[in-house]
Amino acid sequence: MFVPSQLSLSLDNDSHHPLHVQIYFGIRDAILSGRIAPQTKLPSTRALAEMWSVSRSTVVLAFENLTAEGYLQSQMGSGTFTCELQPDRFLRVDGKLPTKKDLPPKDRRPIELSKRGQQMLGQYQMRRQLVDQPHPFRPGVSALETFPIAIWRRLTSRRWRSMSSSSLVQNEPFGFRPLREEIARHLRVSRDVHCEADQVVVVSSTQHALALIAQVLIDPGDPVWIEDPGYLRAQFSLSAAGATLIPVPIDAEGFNLEAARRANPNARLAYVTPSHQYPLGAVMSLSRRLEMLEWANRENGCIIEDDYISEYRYAGRPSTALQGLDELGRVLYLGTFSKVFSPALRLGYLVLPPSLLEAFQAERSLVDRGPSYFDQAVLSDFLKEGYFDQHIRKMRTLYSDRRQTLQNAIKANLEGFMEIGANDAGMHVLGWLPPGISDVSVTTLLAEHGIMAPPLSHYCLRPHERGALLLGFTGYAEERLVRTVELMSDILRQEYPSRFGQAGE
Ligand SMILES: Cc1ncc(COP(=O)(O)O)c(C=O)c1O
Repeated sequence: MFVPSQLSLSLDNDSHHPLHVQIYFGIRDAILSGRIAPQTKLPSTRALAEMWSVSRSTVVLAFENLTAEGYLQSQMGSGTFTCELQPDRFLRVDGKLPTKKDLPPKDRRPIELSKRGQQMLGQYQMRRQLVDQPHPFRPGVSALETFPIAIWRRLTSRRWRSMSSSSLVQNEPFGFRPLREEIARHLRVSRDVHCEADQVVVVSSTQHALALIAQVLIDPGDPVWIEDPGYLRAQFSLSAAGATLIPVPIDAEGFNLEAARRANPNARLAYVTPSHQYPLGAVMSLSRRLEMLEWANRENGCIIEDDYISEYRYAGRPSTALQGLDELGRVLYLGTFSKVFSPALRLGYLVLPPSLLEAFQAERSLVDRGPSYFDQAVLSDFLKEGYFDQHIRKMRTLYSDRRQTLQNAIKANLEGFMEIGANDAGMHVLGWLPPGISDVSVTTLLAEHGIMAPPLSHYCLRPHERGALLLGFTGYAEERLVRTVELMSDILRQEYPSRFGQAGE
């Protein structure tokens, strides 16, 4: 049975929706609300076109979309019918979908999170500052105003101009081959990493790489050695994957392997930042590197080397990568483009030992397809045409100046209270506080005045002896850095008048 009045639509020629879309919505609403029953035969497209005073092709187009989405079906020789929509309980005679109000409170239960989801939510709620806007001295922020937008735009439009339909096929699980070749070349030359393009996996971030590693190498409860203090997002990724984090202290030579062994001799995976320990800045000594490799070889262990900041060393020769000393394939090497350009680019890489290639290929093919090929293609041109090296040189000079300005301003305004840690690399300096002053309290006090200076304690899994603030300098112009240090000095002098003049206790 069919009732044409159910289909009396008021079509509007001036609407921003074309007529076929208005017809589509009109019929769809009539079906969803139950005004037209399932298995109802509709009038012919010609009859409807006449009824609505539109062209037949407009009605045909609407019918085609409704058929493609499963609202209508055409039966050869018999006409077009509404489908039996499943599940029927979604269809309501009064024309509305159920809302919160319709449900008794006992049925308004929240969706249950997994244990892993609950743990992540807890950590996220404790660390909301991770999503704040960049503000001095938030660390790790690149000088976004220097992002080479014009070059990027040109390379992007050139890529799209030469795009063919065959380039829309994404068939390499580890990412766009030419980019992987460029990354391998860059790492061989600048970091002494021993690798071929086959070993390079393009990822969207260091955390993404850690999540992949965790899926392939970590079972729930496995102990993993992790630097303490250390990179928060590495702690989150690994613990979210079920690892039991074993905090390992840092000494003048970096990751303290002896302490790690004492804390848990069963760990088979270690996360380290050897070229610039995050956040303390220690460079892992050669003898410690060799000891770590020896441990990995003897105990069948693996080392995750996060070389997040290798580009930004302002004095002396950069230490080469631990991976370059690894003859037996025990190191998984991570790098990111977030620090050179912007985290918004979301591109980084993981260099695998040859023995793990197949397991990661399986992982990448079955579970994770990686970042957009188009962005990878543009980045590969950027590297190949030398813009990357140019950009790094420019940023190194800019950051070196900003770092010097920050250090000078602290010396001029906070001498006697704050001591700057020795550190020739990275994107922040550590401002050590006088003994006995809580870094968390200082951070909270500064935050009330709009200054963002995370406390070292936030990066610690176990309490640290002395408090310090992480003072990022890369993302802020020199005048802004000086003004913020002056403001910080005023605030601290007012709060701790007796502590000025007692540095280095
Ligand atoms: C130790 C460390 N690794 C890696 C990164 C970069 O991570 P991503 O590539 O996820 O942006 C950072 C950023 O602050 C870092 O501090």
